[in-house]
Amino acid sequence: MMFQGVFFVLVLATGSSSAFAPTSLAAGRYNVVSTTQVAAQSPVIVVETTSTSTESEATAMTMQSSFLQDLQLDASTTRLPYSPTGYSTWKWKTHHSSQNQQQQHAAPVGSVDPASNVQTTHSINYLEVGDPSKPAILLVHGFGASSYHWRYNIPILAQKYNVYALDLLGFGWSDKPIMDYDASIWRDQVVDFVNEIILVKGKNRKVAIAGNSLGGYTAMYASSDTRIKDNVSGCVLLNAAGKFRDPEAPDVKAEPNPIIKSISSAIQRFVIACSFVYTKQPARIEQILRQVYPINDANVDSELVESIRTPALDASAAEVFYRVITKTGSGKQPYVDDILKELDTVPVLLAWGESDPWIRSAAADKIQRLHAEFHKDDERSWIKRVSIDAGHCPHDEAPEAVNDAILEFADTIFASQ
Ligand SMILES: *[C@@H]1O[C@H](CO)[C@@H](O)[C@H](O)[C@H]1NC(C)=O
Repeated sequence: MMFQGVFFVLVLATGSSSAFAPTSLAAGRYNVVSTTQVAAQSPVIVVETTSTSTESEATAMTMQSSFLQDLQLDASTTRLPYSPTGYSTWKWKTHHSSQNQQQQHAAPVGSVDPASNVQTTHSINYLEVGDPSKPAILLVHGFGASSYHWRYNIPILAQKYNVYALDLLGFGWSDKPIMDYDASIWRDQVVDFVNEIILVKGKNRKVAIAGNSLGGYTAMYASSDTRIKDNVSGCVLLNAAGKFRDPEAPDVKAEPNPIIKSISSAIQRFVIACSFVYTKQPARIEQILRQVYPINDANVDSELVESIRTPALDASAAEVFYRVITKTGSGKQPYVDDILKELDTVPVLLAWGESDPWIRSAAADKIQRLHAEFHKDDERSWIKRVSIDAGHCPHDEAPEAVNDAILEFADTIFASQ
Protein backbone atom coordinates (compact mmCIF):
# COMPACT_ATOMS: atom_id res chain seq x y z
CA MET A 1 0.00 0.00 0.00
CA MET A 2 2.75 2.31 1.03
CA PHE A 3 4.58 1.15 -2.03
CA GLN A 4 1.77 2.13 -4.27
CA GLY A 5 1.38 5.41 -2.54
CA VAL A 6 5.00 6.26 -2.98
CA PHE A 7 4.93 5.35 -6.58
CA PHE A 8 1.88 7.34 -7.22
CA VAL A 9 3.10 10.49 -5.61
CA LEU A 10 6.36 10.46 -7.39
CA VAL A 11 4.81 10.12 -10.75
CA LEU A 12 2.29 12.76 -10.00
CA ALA A 13 4.88 15.18 -9.01
CA THR A 14 6.33 15.07 -12.47
CA GLY A 15 3.63 17.23 -13.76
CA SER A 16 1.19 17.46 -16.54
CA SER A 17 -1.45 19.94 -17.37
CA SER A 18 -4.91 19.57 -18.70
CA ALA A 19 -5.46 20.81 -22.15
CA PHE A 20 -8.36 22.30 -23.77
CA ALA A 21 -8.25 21.75 -27.45
CA PRO A 22 -8.22 25.01 -29.31
CA THR A 23 -11.17 24.30 -31.53
CA SER A 24 -10.50 27.20 -33.81
CA LEU A 25 -7.10 25.93 -34.80
CA ALA A 26 -6.62 23.06 -37.17
CA ALA A 27 -3.30 21.47 -37.97
CA GLY A 28 -0.81 23.88 -39.37
CA ARG A 29 2.92 23.87 -39.68
CA TYR A 30 5.19 26.78 -39.31
CA ASN A 31 8.71 27.50 -38.37
CA VAL A 32 9.66 30.42 -36.29
CA VAL A 33 13.18 31.28 -37.13
CA SER A 34 14.75 33.49 -34.58
CA THR A 35 17.41 35.28 -36.53
CA THR A 36 19.46 37.27 -34.16
CA GLN A 37 21.97 38.18 -36.83
CA VAL A 38 19.74 39.30 -39.65
CA ALA A 39 19.32 42.96 -39.06
CA ALA A 40 21.91 44.47 -36.87
CA GLN A 41 19.68 46.90 -35.08
CA SER A 42 16.48 44.97 -35.13
CA PRO A 43 16.50 41.25 -34.54
CA VAL A 44 13.44 39.73 -36.11
CA ILE A 45 11.55 36.53 -36.18
CA VAL A 46 11.00 35.13 -39.59
CA VAL A 47 7.92 33.01 -39.84
CA GLU A 48 8.43 30.54 -42.61
CA THR A 49 5.50 28.56 -43.81
CA THR A 50 5.98 25.00 -44.88
CA SER A 51 3.96 22.15 -46.32
CA THR A 52 0.50 23.51 -46.78
CA SER A 53 -1.38 20.69 -48.33
CA THR A 54 -4.93 21.80 -47.76
CA GLU A 55 -6.76 25.04 -47.59
CA SER A 56 -7.76 24.55 -43.97
CA GLU A 57 -4.18 23.84 -43.05
CA ALA A 58 -3.19 26.97 -44.84
CA THR A 59 -5.77 28.98 -42.94
CA ALA A 60 -4.70 27.53 -39.64
CA MET A 61 -1.14 28.22 -40.49
CA THR A 62 -1.85 31.82 -41.24
CA MET A 63 -3.60 32.19 -37.94
CA GLN A 64 -0.72 30.62 -36.11
CA SER A 65 1.82 32.68 -37.93
CA SER A 66 0.14 35.95 -37.23
CA PHE A 67 -0.42 34.94 -33.64
CA LEU A 68 3.25 34.25 -33.20
CA GLN A 69 4.11 37.50 -34.93
CA ASP A 70 1.81 39.23 -32.50
CA LEU A 71 3.86 37.71 -29.75
CA GLN A 72 6.80 39.79 -30.98
CA LEU A 73 9.18 37.12 -29.90
CA ASP A 74 12.59 38.41 -30.85
CA ALA A 75 16.11 38.35 -29.52
CA SER A 76 15.28 40.83 -26.80
CA THR A 77 12.39 38.71 -25.51
CA THR A 78 13.13 37.00 -22.24
CA ARG A 79 9.61 35.82 -21.48
CA LEU A 80 7.21 33.91 -23.69
CA PRO A 81 3.88 35.74 -23.97
CA TYR A 82 0.95 33.85 -22.48
CA SER A 83 -1.65 32.65 -24.94
CA PRO A 84 -5.06 31.88 -23.42
CA THR A 85 -5.81 29.56 -26.37
CA GLY A 86 -2.54 27.68 -26.72
CA TYR A 87 0.04 28.00 -29.48
CA SER A 88 0.17 25.54 -32.35
CA THR A 89 -1.50 22.19 -32.95
CA TRP A 90 -0.03 18.80 -33.83
CA LYS A 91 -2.50 16.11 -34.80
CA TRP A 92 -1.08 13.11 -33.00
CA LYS A 93 -2.20 9.85 -34.53
CA THR A 94 -1.84 7.18 -31.92
CA HIS A 95 -2.50 3.50 -31.78
CA HIS A 96 -2.34 3.62 -28.07
CA SER A 97 -5.68 4.60 -26.71
CA SER A 98 -8.46 3.03 -28.77
CA GLN A 99 -8.27 -0.12 -26.71
CA ASN A 100 -8.41 1.92 -23.55
CA GLN A 101 -11.45 3.72 -24.77
CA GLN A 102 -13.24 0.50 -25.52
CA GLN A 103 -12.42 -0.85 -22.14
CA GLN A 104 -13.59 2.25 -20.44
CA HIS A 105 -16.88 2.56 -22.31
CA ALA A 106 -16.14 6.23 -22.26
CA ALA A 107 -17.06 8.81 -24.82
CA PRO A 108 -14.20 8.74 -27.28
CA VAL A 109 -12.32 11.92 -27.75
CA GLY A 110 -10.60 12.39 -31.03
CA SER A 111 -11.65 10.22 -33.91
CA VAL A 112 -11.47 6.47 -33.91
CA ASP A 113 -11.14 4.96 -37.34
CA PRO A 114 -13.95 2.39 -37.46
CA ALA A 115 -12.27 0.44 -40.25
CA SER A 116 -9.08 -0.41 -38.40
CA ASN A 117 -10.38 0.49 -34.99
CA VAL A 118 -6.89 1.20 -33.87
CA GLN A 119 -6.10 4.78 -34.63
CA THR A 120 -7.05 7.78 -32.57
CA THR A 121 -6.14 11.36 -33.30
CA HIS A 122 -5.41 13.80 -30.48
CA SER A 123 -4.83 17.52 -30.85
CA ILE A 124 -1.61 18.41 -29.09
CA ASN A 125 -0.62 21.96 -28.25
CA TYR A 126 3.01 22.78 -28.93
CA LEU A 127 5.39 25.56 -29.69
CA GLU A 128 8.53 25.81 -31.80
CA VAL A 129 10.95 28.71 -31.64
CA GLY A 130 14.44 29.10 -33.02
CA ASP A 131 16.51 28.16 -36.03
CA PRO A 132 15.55 24.68 -37.31
CA SER A 133 19.05 24.16 -38.71
CA LYS A 134 20.32 24.07 -35.12
CA PRO A 135 20.06 21.05 -32.80
CA ALA A 136 16.75 20.76 -31.02
CA ILE A 137 15.76 20.96 -27.36
CA LEU A 138 12.35 19.59 -26.37
CA LEU A 139 10.82 20.74 -23.07
CA VAL A 140 8.26 18.63 -21.20
CA HIS A 141 6.23 20.15 -18.36
CA GLY A 142 4.98 18.57 -15.13
CA PHE A 143 1.63 17.73 -13.58
CA GLY A 144 -0.93 20.51 -13.89
CA ALA A 145 1.33 22.69 -16.01
CA SER A 146 1.74 23.27 -19.74
CA SER A 147 4.34 24.41 -22.25
CA TYR A 148 3.86 27.95 -20.91
CA HIS A 149 5.69 26.88 -17.74
CA TRP A 150 8.89 27.19 -19.82
CA ARG A 151 8.18 30.88 -20.49
CA TYR A 152 11.55 32.10 -19.18
CA ASN A 153 13.52 29.31 -20.83
CA ILE A 154 12.16 29.12 -24.37
CA PRO A 155 13.25 32.59 -25.58
CA ILE A 156 16.76 32.27 -24.14
CA LEU A 157 17.43 28.71 -25.31
CA ALA A 158 16.01 29.61 -28.72
CA GLN A 159 18.74 32.18 -29.29
CA LYS A 160 21.08 29.23 -29.85
CA TYR A 161 18.92 26.18 -30.42
CA ASN A 162 15.71 25.04 -32.07
CA VAL A 163 13.37 24.84 -29.08
CA TYR A 164 10.13 22.91 -28.76
CA ALA A 165 7.67 22.57 -25.91
CA LEU A 166 4.54 20.45 -25.90
CA ASP A 167 1.54 19.92 -23.65
CA LEU A 168 1.23 16.33 -22.47
CA LEU A 169 -2.01 14.56 -23.35
CA GLY A 170 -4.57 15.40 -20.68
CA PHE A 171 -2.97 18.71 -19.76
CA GLY A 172 -2.57 22.29 -20.92
CA TRP A 173 -4.21 22.96 -24.27
CA SER A 174 -3.83 19.40 -25.53
CA ASP A 175 -6.83 17.06 -25.75
CA LYS A 176 -8.07 15.48 -22.54
CA PRO A 177 -9.53 12.17 -23.57
CA ILE A 178 -11.23 10.09 -20.91
CA MET A 179 -9.09 6.96 -20.96
CA ASP A 180 -6.55 5.07 -18.89
CA TYR A 181 -3.45 7.13 -18.32
CA ASP A 182 -0.10 5.56 -17.68
CA ALA A 183 3.38 6.80 -18.34
CA SER A 184 3.75 4.88 -21.60
CA ILE A 185 1.20 7.20 -23.22
CA TRP A 186 3.33 10.26 -22.56
CA ARG A 187 6.47 8.35 -23.54
CA ASP A 188 4.84 7.49 -26.86
CA GLN A 189 3.66 11.05 -27.30
CA VAL A 190 7.20 12.37 -26.89
CA VAL A 191 8.71 9.64 -29.08
CA ASP A 192 6.21 10.33 -31.88
CA PHE A 193 6.68 14.08 -31.54
CA VAL A 194 10.44 13.72 -31.84
CA ASN A 195 10.08 11.50 -34.91
CA GLU A 196 7.28 13.36 -36.66
CA ILE A 197 7.95 16.99 -35.81
CA ILE A 198 11.62 17.36 -34.85
CA LEU A 199 13.71 14.78 -36.71
CA VAL A 200 11.94 15.32 -40.03
CA LYS A 201 13.34 18.84 -40.21
CA GLY A 202 16.68 17.73 -41.58
CA LYS A 203 19.27 15.01 -41.89
CA ASN A 204 20.86 13.66 -38.74
CA ARG A 205 19.03 16.03 -36.50
CA LYS A 206 19.94 15.78 -32.86
CA VAL A 207 17.69 16.47 -29.93
CA ALA A 208 17.98 16.85 -26.18
CA ILE A 209 14.90 16.19 -24.07
CA ALA A 210 14.34 18.08 -20.83
CA GLY A 211 11.53 17.58 -18.37
CA ASN A 212 10.27 18.72 -14.99
CA SER A 213 8.56 16.43 -12.49
CA LEU A 214 6.21 14.09 -14.41
CA GLY A 215 7.79 15.56 -17.54
CA GLY A 216 11.22 14.57 -16.23
CA TYR A 217 10.13 10.99 -15.85
CA THR A 218 8.62 11.18 -19.33
CA ALA A 219 11.82 12.70 -20.73
CA MET A 220 14.03 9.89 -19.45
CA TYR A 221 11.50 7.21 -20.40
CA ALA A 222 11.30 8.55 -23.97
CA SER A 223 15.08 9.06 -24.22
CA SER A 224 15.60 5.38 -23.39
CA ASP A 225 13.16 4.26 -26.08
CA THR A 226 14.87 2.47 -28.97
CA ARG A 227 12.69 4.30 -31.50
CA ILE A 228 14.58 7.55 -30.84
CA LYS A 229 17.46 6.73 -28.52
CA ASP A 230 20.10 6.94 -31.26
CA ASN A 231 18.96 10.45 -32.04
CA VAL A 232 18.81 11.73 -28.48
CA SER A 233 22.01 13.53 -27.53
CA GLY A 234 21.11 14.25 -23.94
CA CYS A 235 18.47 14.22 -21.26
CA VAL A 236 17.87 16.97 -18.70
CA LEU A 237 16.02 16.13 -15.50
CA LEU A 238 14.59 18.96 -13.42
CA ASN A 239 13.23 17.44 -10.22
CA ALA A 240 12.07 14.39 -12.11
CA ALA A 241 9.50 12.11 -10.54
CA GLY A 242 9.56 8.34 -10.58
CA LYS A 243 9.69 5.33 -8.32
CA PHE A 244 12.89 3.57 -7.44
CA ARG A 245 13.31 -0.18 -7.39
CA ASP A 246 13.22 -2.04 -4.10
CA PRO A 247 12.89 0.94 -1.84
CA GLU A 248 12.18 -1.44 1.03
CA ALA A 249 14.97 -3.89 0.37
CA PRO A 250 16.93 -4.87 3.49
CA ASP A 251 20.00 -2.78 2.81
CA VAL A 252 17.83 0.26 2.49
CA LYS A 253 15.70 -0.61 5.46
CA ALA A 254 18.67 -0.89 7.78
CA GLU A 255 18.56 2.78 8.50
CA PRO A 256 15.71 5.21 8.02
CA ASN A 257 15.66 5.97 4.35
CA PRO A 258 15.51 9.70 3.74
CA ILE A 259 14.16 9.21 0.26
CA ILE A 260 11.24 7.10 1.34
CA LYS A 261 10.54 9.28 4.32
CA SER A 262 10.42 12.45 2.35
CA ILE A 263 8.40 10.83 -0.35
CA SER A 264 5.72 9.44 1.90
CA SER A 265 5.23 12.74 3.66
CA ALA A 266 5.20 14.44 0.30
CA ILE A 267 2.37 12.20 -0.88
CA GLN A 268 -0.26 13.84 1.20
CA ARG A 269 0.91 17.32 0.50
CA PHE A 270 1.11 16.67 -3.17
CA VAL A 271 -2.31 15.15 -3.49
CA ILE A 272 -3.81 17.96 -1.48
CA ALA A 273 -2.00 20.45 -3.64
CA CYS A 274 -3.29 18.89 -6.82
CA SER A 275 -6.82 18.84 -5.60
CA PHE A 276 -6.53 22.54 -4.85
CA VAL A 277 -5.45 23.11 -8.40
CA TYR A 278 -8.56 21.36 -9.54
CA THR A 279 -10.78 23.53 -7.38
CA LYS A 280 -9.89 26.09 -10.05
CA GLN A 281 -9.67 28.85 -7.48
CA PRO A 282 -6.88 31.24 -8.43
CA ALA A 283 -6.07 32.02 -4.79
CA ARG A 284 -5.64 28.33 -3.98
CA ILE A 285 -3.48 27.67 -7.01
CA GLU A 286 -1.33 30.63 -6.10
CA GLN A 287 -0.99 29.41 -2.53
CA ILE A 288 0.23 26.00 -3.68
CA LEU A 289 2.64 27.52 -6.16
CA ARG A 290 4.19 29.69 -3.46
CA GLN A 291 4.85 26.54 -1.45
CA VAL A 292 6.78 24.94 -4.28
CA TYR A 293 8.65 28.15 -5.14
CA PRO A 294 10.20 28.28 -1.65
CA ILE A 295 13.27 30.38 -2.38
CA ASN A 296 11.84 33.09 -4.59
CA ASP A 297 8.15 33.28 -5.36
CA ALA A 298 8.43 36.46 -7.42
CA ASN A 299 7.54 34.52 -10.56
CA VAL A 300 4.27 33.24 -9.13
CA ASP A 301 2.05 35.66 -10.99
CA SER A 302 -1.42 35.84 -12.44
CA GLU A 303 -0.39 34.51 -15.85
CA LEU A 304 1.18 31.43 -14.33
CA VAL A 305 -1.96 30.87 -12.26
CA GLU A 306 -4.13 31.35 -15.37
CA SER A 307 -2.01 28.90 -17.36
CA ILE A 308 -2.86 26.27 -14.74
CA ARG A 309 -6.44 27.29 -14.03
CA THR A 310 -7.70 27.73 -17.61
CA PRO A 311 -6.99 24.17 -18.78
CA ALA A 312 -8.55 22.88 -15.54
CA LEU A 313 -11.83 24.49 -16.57
CA ASP A 314 -12.21 21.92 -19.35
CA ALA A 315 -15.14 19.60 -18.64
CA SER A 316 -12.86 16.53 -18.78
CA ALA A 317 -10.04 17.97 -16.69
CA ALA A 318 -11.16 16.70 -13.30
CA GLU A 319 -11.88 13.22 -14.64
CA VAL A 320 -8.52 13.09 -16.38
CA PHE A 321 -6.81 14.24 -13.21
CA TYR A 322 -8.53 11.51 -11.23
CA ARG A 323 -7.56 8.88 -13.77
CA VAL A 324 -3.99 10.07 -13.93
CA ILE A 325 -3.51 9.84 -10.18
CA THR A 326 -5.31 6.54 -9.76
CA LYS A 327 -3.74 4.93 -12.81
CA THR A 328 -0.22 6.05 -12.14
CA GLY A 329 -0.40 4.17 -8.86
CA SER A 330 -1.18 0.88 -10.51
CA GLY A 331 2.38 -0.20 -11.07
CA LYS A 332 2.73 -0.10 -14.84
CA GLN A 333 5.56 2.39 -14.92
CA PRO A 334 9.08 1.14 -15.02
CA TYR A 335 11.33 1.97 -12.11
CA VAL A 336 13.70 4.88 -12.51
CA ASP A 337 16.52 2.36 -12.01
CA ASP A 338 15.51 0.38 -15.08
CA ILE A 339 15.15 3.47 -17.23
CA LEU A 340 18.54 4.83 -16.16
CA LYS A 341 20.13 1.52 -17.04
CA GLU A 342 18.96 1.97 -20.63
CA LEU A 343 20.54 5.42 -20.95
CA ASP A 344 23.87 3.90 -21.91
CA THR A 345 24.47 6.33 -24.78
CA VAL A 346 22.62 9.36 -23.46
CA PRO A 347 24.35 11.86 -21.13
CA VAL A 348 22.19 13.20 -18.30
CA LEU A 349 22.07 16.62 -16.69
CA LEU A 350 20.39 16.92 -13.31
CA ALA A 351 19.36 20.56 -12.92
CA TRP A 352 17.89 20.08 -9.50
CA GLY A 353 15.98 22.49 -7.32
CA GLU A 354 17.48 21.46 -4.01
CA SER A 355 14.69 22.90 -1.85
CA ASP A 356 11.83 20.95 -3.40
CA PRO A 357 9.23 20.06 -0.76
CA TRP A 358 7.83 17.28 -3.00
CA ILE A 359 10.81 15.56 -4.59
CA ARG A 360 13.75 15.92 -2.28
CA SER A 361 17.34 16.23 -3.35
CA ALA A 362 17.84 12.69 -2.03
CA ALA A 363 16.14 11.51 -5.22
CA ALA A 364 18.83 13.25 -7.27
CA ASP A 365 21.51 11.69 -5.06
CA LYS A 366 20.05 8.29 -5.78
CA ILE A 367 19.89 8.93 -9.53
CA GLN A 368 23.57 9.92 -9.45
CA ARG A 369 24.53 6.80 -7.50
CA LEU A 370 22.59 4.47 -9.78
CA HIS A 371 23.90 6.12 -12.91
CA ALA A 372 27.50 5.78 -11.71
CA GLU A 373 26.90 2.14 -10.89
CA PHE A 374 25.29 1.29 -14.24
CA HIS A 375 27.45 3.30 -16.60
CA LYS A 376 30.95 3.37 -15.18
CA ASP A 377 32.08 1.53 -18.31
CA ASP A 378 29.97 3.37 -20.85
CA GLU A 379 32.04 6.00 -22.58
CA ARG A 380 29.08 7.73 -24.07
CA SER A 381 27.03 8.09 -20.93
CA TRP A 382 27.86 10.46 -18.10
CA ILE A 383 25.89 12.41 -15.57
CA LYS A 384 26.32 15.92 -14.26
CA ARG A 385 24.47 17.63 -11.45
CA VAL A 386 23.90 21.34 -11.19
CA SER A 387 22.27 22.33 -7.91
CA ILE A 388 19.72 25.09 -8.32
CA ASP A 389 18.64 27.25 -5.40
CA ALA A 390 14.93 26.64 -5.98
CA GLY A 391 12.05 24.29 -5.28
CA HIS A 392 10.06 21.91 -7.45
CA CYS A 393 10.08 24.04 -10.61
CA PRO A 394 13.64 25.36 -10.86
CA HIS A 395 13.23 26.39 -14.51
CA ASP A 396 10.61 28.97 -13.56
CA GLU A 397 11.77 29.88 -10.07
CA ALA A 398 15.42 30.38 -11.01
CA PRO A 399 15.39 30.54 -14.81
CA GLU A 400 18.80 32.18 -15.26
CA ALA A 401 20.62 29.42 -13.40
CA VAL A 402 18.67 26.71 -15.23
CA ASN A 403 19.17 28.32 -18.64
CA ASP A 404 22.91 28.58 -18.01
CA ALA A 405 23.05 24.92 -16.96
CA ILE A 406 21.06 23.71 -19.96
CA LEU A 407 23.05 25.82 -22.42
CA GLU A 408 26.36 24.58 -21.06
CA PHE A 409 25.14 20.99 -21.24
CA ALA A 410 23.72 21.49 -24.74
CA ASP A 411 26.96 23.08 -25.98
CA THR A 412 28.85 20.04 -24.71
CA ILE A 413 26.59 17.28 -25.99
CA PHE A 414 25.92 18.81 -29.38
CA ALA A 415 29.54 19.80 -29.95
CA SER A 416 30.76 16.27 -29.45
CA GLN A 417 28.77 14.98 -32.40
C1 LIG B 1 18.79 8.61 -36.01
O1 LIG B 1 20.05 8.06 -35.68
C2 LIG B 1 20.45 6.99 -36.52
C3 LIG B 1 21.76 6.45 -35.96
O2 LIG B 1 22.71 7.45 -35.82
C4 LIG B 1 20.60 7.47 -37.94
O3 LIG B 1 20.95 6.40 -38.79
C5 LIG B 1 19.28 8.08 -38.39
O4 LIG B 1 19.42 8.64 -39.66
C6 LIG B 1 18.81 9.14 -37.41
N1 LIG B 1 17.49 9.56 -37.79
C7 LIG B 1 17.22 10.78 -38.15
C8 LIG B 1 15.82 11.04 -38.54
O5 LIG B 1 18.06 11.68 -38.17
